[in-house]
Amino acid sequence: MARLIGGVGSSHVPAIGNAIEQKLQGEPYWKPFFKGYEPVWQWMEEKKPDVAILVYNDHGLNFFLDAMPTFAIGAAAEYQNADEGWGLKPLDPFKGDPDFSWHLIDSLVHDEFDITMCQEMQVDHGFTVPMSLMWPQQALRDQVKVIPLCVNVVQYPFPTARRCLRLGEAIGRAVASYEEDLDVVILGTGGLSHQLDGERAGHINREFDMEFLGRLKDDPEWLLQFTNYELAEKVGSQGVEMIMWLIMRGALGDNIRELSRNYHIPISNTAAGVVLFETLLP
Ligand code: DHB
Ligand code: FE
Repeated sequence: MARLIGGVGSSHVPAIGNAIEQKLQGEPYWKPFFKGYEPVWQWMEEKKPDVAILVYNDHGLNFFLDAMPTFAIGAAAEYQNADEGWGLKPLDPFKGDPDFSWHLIDSLVHDEFDITMCQEMQVDHGFTVPMSLMWPQQALRDQVKVIPLCVNVVQYPFPTARRCLRLGEAIGRAVASYEEDLDVVILGTGGLSHQLDGERAGHINREFDMEFLGRLKDDPEWLLQFTNYELAEKVGSQGVEMIMWLIMRGALGDNIRELSRNYHIPISNTAAGVVLFETLLP
């Protein structure tokens, strides 16, 4: 049977992709940020997950404002990256697992999550930056198959934080009912607080981010008290991306431990966070 062995929450600022490409990890600006990923690299090296379910948001590469699915999942054998204009060199294609995708789709739809299914899907920095962060070398990325799960946090109305947490729980059930012997990791990405445009550009709410990170393991429902409009006020219009971390958290269930956490301000205009959870398997 497939097992969810752990989950990671991570930011996806495009500049991180450039820093990895240019090998700037040791520079003073980047060092405290990348240091937070060392436990994740060690854990990935030790656990060698077979598949990563990557929860992220597309920023206009694959979906645009004319047709915006609330939740969409990839069911392709391969996912291409393309130039979106952030100065990021497109990464090599990522290998999918269509059989597992179709199982997830089937299970989610029967669990009343009517997800958009995509047999072709291009992936943007929201996907590629977390992939490069988890597995910085191409050879490492080639060892893990990916399932992109895309969430609309671009065009209102967004799904509620509650819906995200519940979708995560349904993903947990879907993984547990897959008959293949696979170790699966789930990544919840985007956030933390940031606003890229308008009068409040550069807005960061450290206190809120710290509370969110501190409660994520034992009290993820804490975030559900806020509407997405309230969240945008508190953490910035793009900070709302943090609701995607709840999908990761919901999938893991409550039998987990937190192995590491880091918070760093700012990367670009954004508060960057990383957290690593491991499931305690029976
Ligand atoms: C930045 C953050 C994002 O979430 C994004 O999608 C693009 C850019 C930034 O901080 O530069
Ligand atoms: Fe973003």
